[in-house]
Amino acid sequence: MERSERPLYSAAQIHARVAELAAEISRDLRGRDLVALIVLKGALHFGSDLVRALSVPVAIDFVQARSYHGATSTGTVTMLARPTQDLRGKHVLIVEDILDTGVTARALLDFVRDQGAAEIRFCALFDKPVRRKQPVTADYAGFTVEDVFLVGYGMDIDERFRELPDVYRMS
Ligand code: IMP
Ligand code: MG
Repeated sequence: MERSERPLYSAAQIHARVAELAAEISRDLRGRDLVALIVLKGALHFGSDLVRALSVPVAIDFVQARSYHGATSTGTVTMLARPTQDLRGKHVLIVEDILDTGVTARALLDFVRDQGAAEIRFCALFDKPVRRKQPVTADYAGFTVEDVFLVGYGMDIDERFRELPDVYRMS
């Protein structure tokens, strides 16, 4: 597999879309006790850019999840890192790079609910609805894409390409 020579989404395109998402989220969640829960590692740039574009106060925390996909449709998700702050009664915005099969998203939503959050919203920069195995929808989605594998802007293949400012497709 090789990364495309030209970006599929440029840093400028991403920046513009992140600003739109941030405006929408700021409008919807103004006045709430808001926590942005950034999902490592893929959402590191997206999360950082998104919180800086919000016009409302926000606390920041992190989770890291690893999903194992077996031969069957579902997978199991292990939490490698948990948020350090109490999420009870908080309005939690989960910030993910990609919503793919939905297995990770489902586990994250269940985890945050079990922590006693008052409200949970799910934000993904990229959404691949055709890949879904769990019925999860994003409250905020940056770009809807086909069944393509993306790298760059935090997203990796075997830990490569996370550092790139633009998003490329692998083929
Ligand atoms: P899911 O559990 O299948 O929804 O997996 C979601 C996770 O898989 C994302 O948070 C990414 O870390 C990873 N992932 C899914 N699609 C891609 C991709 O196209 N490029 C890089 N990582 C991906
Ligand atoms: Mg990820």
